[in-house]
Amino acid sequence: MKVLTGTPPQLARWAADRVLHRLRTRSLSVLGVATGSSPLPVYRALAASGEPALASLRVFALDEYVGLPHHHPQSYHCVVDREVTRPLGLDPARVHVPDGAADDLDAAAAEYEHLIAASGGIDLQVLGIGANGHVGFNEPFSSLRSRTRVETLTARTRRDNARFFGGDLQQVPTSCLTQGLGTILDADEVVLIATGAAKAHAVAQMVEGPLSSACPASVLQLHPRATVLLDDRAAAQLT
Ligand code: F6R
Repeated sequence: MKVLTGTPPQLARWAADRVLHRLRTRSLSVLGVATGSSPLPVYRALAASGEPALASLRVFALDEYVGLPHHHPQSYHCVVDREVTRPLGLDPARVHVPDGAADDLDAAAAEYEHLIAASGGIDLQVLGIGANGHVGFNEPFSSLRSRTRVETLTARTRRDNARFFGGDLQQVPTSCLTQGLGTILDADEVVLIATGAAKAHAVAQMVEGPLSSACPASVLQLHPRATVLLDDRAAAQLT
């Protein structure tokens, strides 16, 4: 696991440059995107690059809430459309988000895994990390080999994400569909961005703690091409 530190704009630049480099050298056709606040500056930097080859990308989101209609402004269908698809000029048909509104969620999860595999797998996966160490919405004690599935959100994650729902915890869904830890490990390369003091403990567990499902992000220690981008506050508990 490679760890780089910098200011948030420097981290966004690094991640965007990595995407653009792989795109221009034709080693990136499938991009995995996280939602949440951490990677937003990366998507803005990509949009600002004006790189026409971005339009050739196929994109897979990491996760989606269960129970929100696709048009709900905080559904990841909407968030990805707003923050990724439109700014990068992508054809919506090339952008995939798990279907958290499906009647049969297990079938939707299996279909998502199938779609990723049929696309040739994810070349570069952008990740954030939860304050409890989740990646995607793989909460603590997720199986290290898990695949896309229904997951129950912890009270901590729901509290942390209430800010996206006007601070109203009641509005935050209680479950989600998420790529599994095994799915994330299958990506050719992963780039995780963490900024702010609230992430410092989880970051230390991920980078220096034991490999343990108690900190799901620690599974990235097994990944051969994982880069962790940290600002000073997120890096504060590293020894
Ligand atoms: C979002 C996701 C989550 C977030 C994490 C951090 O698709 O999978 O793992 O990356 O909750 O969220 P922020 O960046 O909002 O702190």
